[in-house]
Amino acid sequence: MSVVRLTHFTDTHLHGGENQRLRGVATLPALEAALSHARSRDWPPDAVLVTGDLVNDDPAGYPHFRRLFGALGLPVLCVPGNHDEPQAMRRELAGAPFVLGGFVDLGQWRIVLLDSCIPGSARGAISEQALAGLETALASAGKRHCMVCLHHHPVPMHSRWLDSVGLTNAAEFLHTIDGHKNVRAIVWGHVHQNYDSLRKGVRLLATPSTCAQFLPKAQDFAVDQRPPAFRTLELRADGSLLTEVVWVEQHSGGSSRSVCSAA
Ligand SMILES: [Fe+2]
Repeated sequence: MSVVRLTHFTDTHLHGGENQRLRGVATLPALEAALSHARSRDWPPDAVLVTGDLVNDDPAGYPHFRRLFGALGLPVLCVPGNHDEPQAMRRELAGAPFVLGGFVDLGQWRIVLLDSCIPGSARGAISEQALAGLETALASAGKRHCMVCLHHHPVPMHSRWLDSVGLTNAAEFLHTIDGHKNVRAIVWGHVHQNYDSLRKGVRLLATPSTCAQFLPKAQDFAVDQRPPAFRTLELRADGSLLTEVVWVEQHSGGSSRSVCSAA
């Protein structure tokens, strides 16, 4: 496996009701359209990644998640978000193909799945235990390149309201990252927008939601009218990566087309 290919979906915000909406977007049909579109191009990847807010405070959304992602025939790597219900998530998504934490080795890459949730809070934090797990995962990776996945953003998004619900102990998290030379990327959800930058040689990537988006750099809460999206990742054996955000525009006839922003 010289190249590892992942498809990243995030913040699916499913409800039990099939047509329930979040900020104007019916989240289940939007996810179905995104999955359908992803499956029409460069499919299958080696695994699918989902970085939290699988449901929107409604555990009845998990059976939809299990049905859709369980049918892909691929490992589904998940971390929880602040709108998830951890007990119900573990119960509903127990066993293969779902992986809910720890790390997974794919080719020359180690994908680390980190829980950044604080029960009852929209903010995030990496617990002492999770930080120790991260340290162990990075230290034992050998020659593998590492990608660390979590829900909350560990760097400012330059948006006052979003930065009030970020990772409260980002400094500790980044200190652990900085202690290892094998981390190539950090990937998150939560912010419902595209973000792509570099910090000390580590690629920082946030992926837009499969439902409603937030307006980048807004000081107060604001919805962005951009369509649902997902991200493809091509992780190469030399530690470099190629990634693309695919925006899925729905049309009244039910068809979808994509607009890609490659980086
Ligand atoms: Fe979310």
